[in-house]
Amino acid sequence: MKPRRLVLIGFGAIAGDLAATLLDAPQPGYVLGVLLKPGSASRQRLPQSCTPLSDLAELAAFAPDLVVEAAGHEAVRASVPGCLTLGLPVLISSIGALHDAALLASLVATAREHGGRLLLPSGALGGLDYVRAVRHASELTLRYESRKPPAAWSAELKALGHDPDRLDAPVTLFSGNAREAAAAYPQNLNVAAALALAGPGFEATGVDVICDPATTGNTHVVTARSEFGTMHLAIANRPSPSNPKSSWIVGRSLLAAIEQFFAPVMML
Ligand SMILES: NC(=O)c1ccc[n+]([C@@H]2O[C@H](COP(=O)([O-])OP(=O)(O)OC[C@H]3O[C@@H](n4cnc5c(N)ncnc54)[C@H](O)[C@@H]3O)[C@@H](O)[C@H]2O)c1
Repeated sequence: MKPRRLVLIGFGAIAGDLAATLLDAPQPGYVLGVLLKPGSASRQRLPQSCTPLSDLAELAAFAPDLVVEAAGHEAVRASVPGCLTLGLPVLISSIGALHDAALLASLVATAREHGGRLLLPSGALGGLDYVRAVRHASELTLRYESRKPPAAWSAELKALGHDPDRLDAPVTLFSGNAREAAAAYPQNLNVAAALALAGPGFEATGVDVICDPATTGNTHVVTARSEFGTMHLAIANRPSPSNPKSSWIVGRSLLAAIEQFFAPVMML
């Protein structure tokens, strides 16, 4: 069996983590190309066996089986449409970018027209299989709570007149729906967006963003109630050693999605 050909978009904390695991995988293994921004400092960190790519033409010539974005919201706008136009499947970690309804509609239309596909991983969250199962329930209420320590929200706390170093009680920074949360915190919405897209959509997904001095990690709590029962899910993620803003588990979630993509048995 031939090695699987993957292109990673970006080579930061998550992609670096993922690449290390992929390059260690048993036969048939993976061959990696990495699309970098011009002049990117990440180029020095690329393992020797990875092929640096600088544009869509080089990406097309590399002929990947799958493209994996781990670069940020702007990269979804800049690079994903071209990949879909080439008919390629693209695994997107910056799911929050899809809160922009016009962007999502245009990516879906491009994928349909050219035979490409958008694949969305669980990322820092879990339980999306259950949320997908209840998405059409007639009595569904879905709520997501993000709880992070003050260091994660310094600027926002200061803007509200709080001193992040002297917070002695939790502060609710936001309470509303996932569409509004996206507008308020575009870079922090990947988890809420994944939940909204798996479930009943952005307007019908409730979001609370809480800054809590008593918490150390990034905690996600999801409650789904419907006529079928209740799911109450709590996840406390450790931050990535190379980027405290990202959860360490995300690279492993992408790995799990890649394994599913190539597997003869798919768990949905
Ligand atoms: N789905 C989830 O649960 C989840 C969780 C955490 C992070 N994320 C997403 O993953 C992204 C990457 O996270 P990270 O911790 O690796 O970030 P990072 O900052 O460590 O790395 C991002 C890398 O991408 C590069 N980059 C930016 N724009 C690019 C472009 N247009 N083309 C190529 N490279 C580009 C940057 O130079 C940087 O090296 C985040 O921006 C976030 O959107 C998703």
